[in-house]
Amino acid sequence: MFIACTRASLIQSARVALLLIAVSSVAMAKEEGMGSEGAVQDQRRFAPSYVSIEGHREVSPDQWTDPRICGQCHSEQYEGWNGSMHSNAFRDPVYQALWALAEKADPSMRNHCGTCHTPIGITTKTVEFHPDEGLHGKFTAPPIAEMGVSCDVCHTISGTNLQKTAVLEHGNASFIMSPGNKKRATLKDAESPYHETEYSEHHDSSDFCGNCHNIFHPGNNFPIERTYDEWKYSIYAQNDIRCQDCHMVPVAIAEKVADTLTRPKDLNEPSLEGFAGLGGKWRKVIHKHGFVGGNAVVTAVLNAKDKDNPEELGRDANVKEAIARLQGAASLKLYLAQKAGHLHQLKVKVTNERAGHHLPTSLTEVRQVWLEVVVKDDQGNELYRNGTLTEANEVPKEAVIFNAHAVDKDGQDTMLPWEIVRFVDVNTIPPKGYKYGKYYFNVPDGVKQVTVTAKLHYRSFSQGLADLLLGKDAVKVPSVEMVAVEQTLDVGGIKVADAAAH
Ligand code: HEC
Ligand code: HEC
Ligand code: HEC
Ligand code: HEC
Ligand code: HEC
Repeated sequence: MFIACTRASLIQSARVALLLIAVSSVAMAKEEGMGSEGAVQDQRRFAPSYVSIEGHREVSPDQWTDPRICGQCHSEQYEGWNGSMHSNAFRDPVYQALWALAEKADPSMRNHCGTCHTPIGITTKTVEFHPDEGLHGKFTAPPIAEMGVSCDVCHTISGTNLQKTAVLEHGNASFIMSPGNKKRATLKDAESPYHETEYSEHHDSSDFCGNCHNIFHPGNNFPIERTYDEWKYSIYAQNDIRCQDCHMVPVAIAEKVADTLTRPKDLNEPSLEGFAGLGGKWRKVIHKHGFVGGNAVVTAVLNAKDKDNPEELGRDANVKEAIARLQGAASLKLYLAQKAGHLHQLKVKVTNERAGHHLPTSLTEVRQVWLEVVVKDDQGNELYRNGTLTEANEVPKEAVIFNAHAVDKDGQDTMLPWEIVRFVDVNTIPPKGYKYGKYYFNVPDGVKQVTVTAKLHYRSFSQGLADLLLGKDAVKVPSVEMVAVEQTLDVGGIKVADAAAH
């Protein structure tokens, strides 16, 4: 637009722009009753978070609608969302505990953590902390705010504040909220008897998710969780495959998307068709709202027992789907080579086949993806074992683990996000990339064949972290077997070729 301008008109438009900035900041300063220096600061009323309310108006919880009301006409979306991690984002006991520790260490963390986990609670300033309740303290908020990332949170988001963030990228709750009767998504011709609708390109993009799925430290700007960044520089982004294309469709479809790099709408899958809302048109693609990732712990723990209660709809499905998604994410391949005499090397190649970001992603300092390897001789005697959980339900130190290792300002290990200044070791697996686990062991004379079993496991956090956050032995952290291979391999006969390939 500027390229075509003459010099004179450029100067003029610059003047107009300046004037507009001056006028709007005066207006804002007036509206908020502050001096002009306060105006800039004021654009971040919920600092250190980057969220803002359209028009900088005051908001109250009654401006957002209860998901159960939306569910009356959008039952499919409601069934998916209810019991999902988004619906649990505030109640999640692991989150509550870590947030409480953060609050005690540094009260400015309340807005930082809270704006993604309870956008309504923070922007209406209705979150309360009860330091003496529970193990570490407990947060409460009005019911609609306790529903975490609910329908009306996502569907009244009207834009992004990414240009204002310290890292000039989406993240730290860089979204604009416009609660009200207008619901935004990606249907261009939607008509609802209950609310206005508006087409929103933002909802069709990974940027929309990136506002929350990218976290940097609000003090030192270190990127702690970078799911969006990882995606942005991946083969998926290059092929226009977005978060929604994998996380808002059934796992089987997501796997096709990952394998063929084709968007769901171009797959012509009849199973994706349906009604977007009661009384609406038949649509070629409607979207699953469970937003299932890898978490099968919290959804299971919060799973209420009463199946006759309509509140419980969809909850078990979330757990099963998380397991299925993990089980399709990676592949394993084995290579055995003789090194010298009895000494053999086993290499296990782990490929991230279908995650649109690193494996694992997000809380990489907390999530655990590791290899378990067992080698037996032709008589069934165990020659070697590595990566089996200890009696205390911990991943043993010598295991090959794919994660990040975080330290604080003194270089000490930490898993507390507000203490992290850097990662000293990162061993996550990039999209369509691979890493090797390498093992060395002796094969006794006379053994002609060995049977190797390798398994890749996932769990949301260590037993130690669960004990710290939830109380000793409150839960035994479960693991999900993502993929396993068993292969009988000839000893000695194998060339060193694969070892040299590295
Ligand atoms: C009385 C029924 C009813 C209720 C209640 C209702 N909706 Fe709708 N909604 C509809 C219908 C009908 C459509 C249009 C469907 C179509 O055109 O295929 C729609 C469309 C939408 C769309 C698509 C907008 C677009 O342009 O892409 C969104 C998003 C939406 N609703 C969200 C909500 C949310 C959030 C709530 C609760 C706050 C809600 N709805 C409550 C009936 C309802
Ligand atoms: C920019 C948005 C954002 C901010 C800021 C944020 N989180 Fe989160 N948090 C997320 C998202 C997204 C996930 C889900 C990632 C995943 O499961 O892979 C998450 C997951 C978590 C989990 C894992 C829960 C579980 O059950 O495994 C904990 C614990 C947590 N956050 C605590 C915090 C704390 C404490 C803070 C503040 C120091 C914080 N978060 C700040 C977005 C945010
Ligand atoms: C985490 C954000 C998020 C939450 C929470 C959420 N939605 Fe959506 N919803 C979306 C996005 C994004 C789309 C558009 C997906 C696309 O087109 O790629 C969408 C699409 C829709 C549509 C259009 C039809 C369709 O399925 O594509 C309706 C209707 C809808 N959502 C209703 C709801 C209701 C009702 C709830 C709560 C029970 C809800 N949504 C919760 C993000 C969300
Ligand atoms: C308003 C902030 C927000 C937005 C927008 C948002 N999310 Fe989330 N999301 C969260 C939080 C917070 C959690 C984690 C809750 C917890 O673990 O307690 C989460 C959890 C998830 C999980 C489950 C992770 C697991 O471990 O199983 C997936 C998958 C996910 N989001 C995908 C998406 C996608 C895809 C989009 C965009 C269409 C999106 N989210 C938009 C905040 C958000
Ligand atoms: C090609 C498909 C694909 C795309 C695209 C994709 N994901 Fe995922 N995602 C997966 C798979 C598979 C998993 C399970 C394995 C894992 O945890 O990495 C997963 C897991 C997750 C988790 C849970 C991670 C954990 O272990 O706590 C979150 C959160 C998530 N995705 C968010 C996103 C967001 C946000 C985007 C877009 C920026 C996105 N995903 C794009 C396939 C995809």
